[in-house]
Amino acid sequence: MILNLFLGFNFTFNIQYIPSYMTFSDPHSFARPSEARMHHADLELTIDFEQRVLRGKVMIHFTAAPGIRRLILDTRQLHILRVTLDGSESSAPFSMGPPDEILGQPLEIRIQPHNKIATIWYETSPDAPALQWLSPAQTAGGQEPFLYTQSQAILCRSWIPVQDSPSIRFTYTATVRGKPGHLVLMSARNPQNISPDGTYHFVMPHPIPAYLMALAAGRLAFSPLDHRTGVYAEPEVLSLALQDFAETPKMLAVAEALYGPYAWDRYDILVMPPAFPFGGMENPCLTFATPTILTGDKSLTSLIAHELAHSWSGNYTTNATWCDFWLNEGFTVFLERRIMQELYGEPYMHMLEVLGYSDLQNTINQLMAEGRAAFTTLHLPLEDHDPDDAVSDIAYEKGYLFLRQLQRMLGVTATDQLLKMWFERHAFASVTTQDFLNFFKEHLTVDQWQTLMPDSWIFQPGLPGHTAPHSQIFEEVEKAAQDAMRGRFPSQSQWISWYSQMRQQFLRTLAHRQPSPEQLAALDQHLQITNSRNSEEVFLWLQMALKAGYFDVVPKVEEFLSTVGRRKFVLPLMQTLLSIPALKEWGKAQFLNIWGPRYHYVTYNSVARLLD
Ligand code: BES
Ligand code: ZN
Repeated sequence: MILNLFLGFNFTFNIQYIPSYMTFSDPHSFARPSEARMHHADLELTIDFEQRVLRGKVMIHFTAAPGIRRLILDTRQLHILRVTLDGSESSAPFSMGPPDEILGQPLEIRIQPHNKIATIWYETSPDAPALQWLSPAQTAGGQEPFLYTQSQAILCRSWIPVQDSPSIRFTYTATVRGKPGHLVLMSARNPQNISPDGTYHFVMPHPIPAYLMALAAGRLAFSPLDHRTGVYAEPEVLSLALQDFAETPKMLAVAEALYGPYAWDRYDILVMPPAFPFGGMENPCLTFATPTILTGDKSLTSLIAHELAHSWSGNYTTNATWCDFWLNEGFTVFLERRIMQELYGEPYMHMLEVLGYSDLQNTINQLMAEGRAAFTTLHLPLEDHDPDDAVSDIAYEKGYLFLRQLQRMLGVTATDQLLKMWFERHAFASVTTQDFLNFFKEHLTVDQWQTLMPDSWIFQPGLPGHTAPHSQIFEEVEKAAQDAMRGRFPSQSQWISWYSQMRQQFLRTLAHRQPSPEQLAALDQHLQITNSRNSEEVFLWLQMALKAGYFDVVPKVEEFLSTVGRRKFVLPLMQTLLSIPALKEWGKAQFLNIWGPRYHYVTYNSVARLLD
C-alpha cells in the first residue's frame, strides 16, 4: 500500500512499516487524528472488585482520511484481548508499540478504507493509574468497597483504549455492570436510584475529550439541591454536603448570567472518599469533590464555583494540549472569583485573590530557585515531560493575574462579555494559546494589546508588571498575627467570627514570623486549632507547627495523613516531615507502609518522587 502525498510526506513507503510513533500536534498522545480520528465510543464494562479490574469492550467510531490503513489509540497497562472491525466476526490485526514511561503504549489497528468502527475487548491492570480501588475501611460507611477513576491529564488510557488528547472530542454511551446495591455514576446523564441488578446505562450526547471520562461506583445516595443540581455521597456524609453545597444553584445562575447558558443539562456533585487526590475534578455533569471541603459553614465552597466554572472554561472550551493548560485553569480561576464576587461581594473575592497571589509568588520563587524558570511561563514547554508537571500555581494564578490585568484595563463587564464571546466562538471545541492570541488581539485596540503585553505573560518566565491584589479585610488579621507573636491572641469569639480565609491568612502571616514551639503551644491551648474541622486551616497549622518544632501535633499529622489523600496537603506535609531529622525516618516508613498504599496513584507517585 503506497501512501500518497496527502500527508505531506515527499517520499513513498509501505504504511505497514512506519517505524516511529512520533506525534505531531499533541506531545502527550500517540494518536494521529489527521489520519484517523474517533468521534464516538460505546463502552460496555464490568466492575470486578475482587480482581480489581474493569473488563469488557469499547466500540470506537472513527473517520479515516483517504488511503489511511491504521487507527492509533493510546493505552497504558491494558490487556488487549481482541479487536474486530465493523460487523465482522473475525479478528482484525493489531500491534502494540514499545511502552513509554509517561505516555504508555500505542495500539495500532490495521483498518480497511470502508471501516468505521473498531471494537476492542480488553481488561485493565489491577494497578491502572487512573483507578483507585478503595477498601470498605477507606469509606465513610466502612461496609462496601468503592471505585473511582481520575483521567486528567493522561490517565484515561489506563482504563479505556482511546485517543487520549484534549484536542480530540467524542460523544459516548456506556453500559456498566457494578455490584448489586451500588450506585454507578459517570460524566454523563446519571441515575438517581439504585438499579436492582447493578447495571446502569449512560449517555453523553456532547463531544468531550478523554480526560473528562469518569466513573465512580459504591454505596451512594442522591439528594437534590434544586431541579437541576444535586449531591451524591455516602449516606453518612450526605446531609453535611447538602448544607455546604446549598449555594450551588445560585452559583450556576450567576455563571449563566455572566457567560451564557449551561451546556450540560444537570450539574451534580459527587462527594468522594478522603483519599481522592484533588480538591475537585470537573467531570461533565458530575463534579468529583474532596470531602475535605465539608466544614458545615460553606467556607471552602469556592472550590465548587471553580469546578462549576470549568463547565465553560475547560469542558466547553478546552485546552488543545497540556502546554495550553492555563487556558483551562487560569480562565477557570478567573470565572470562579467572578462567581464568588457576585455572590459574596468584592471584599470576599479580594481575600481569595490575595491568598492565590501569595501562593503564586512562593511557586515562582521556588521554581526559579530550582533552576526551573522555564516552567513559570503560561504556555508550558511540556514536550518530553509528564503533563502532571504542569499542575502548579503558574497555570492557575499567573493565568488568573493575566486576565485580571485585562479586566483592570477593560472593566468588569466588558471583560465578562469578551469571555462570553470566547466561549461561544469555541463551543465544544479545543483551543491553543495561538487561538487565544488571535481572538483577543482581534477584539482589543492596538494600544490595549500593547499595554497588555501578552507575549511576556505567555512566553516569558516570572511576572511582568501588574497590580498586586490587596485585601482590606486582611489588614486586621495581619495585625492580629503580629500581636500573637507578642503573646496577645485573638479572643475565641473573634477567631470563630472571622471568615476561614482570615484565619488562613492569620496562620500564613504567623508562619512567616517563625514562632517558637512555646508560642504555638500557648496559641493552640487558647484557640484549639489542632482540633479544627477546617482542612485548609488544619493543614496550614500542621505545616507551621512541624516547622516550628511543636511536635504535640504529630498524632494529628498521623491521623490526617492516614485518611486524607489530597495531594495539595499530602505533598507539602510529607516534604516537611522529611526535612525534620527527628521525624524523617518515621515519616518515610509511615508513608511506605501505611499512608502511601491508601493514596491514589497521582498522590503516591508525587510523594515517591520526593523520596527518590
Ligand atoms: N482539573 C483540576 C484538577 C486536575 C488538574 C487534575 C490537572 C489533574 C490534572 C481541577 O479543576 C482543579 O483545579 N482542582 C483544584 C481546585 C481548585 C479550587 C484550584 C484542586 O484540586 O486543588
Ligand atoms: Zn481547575
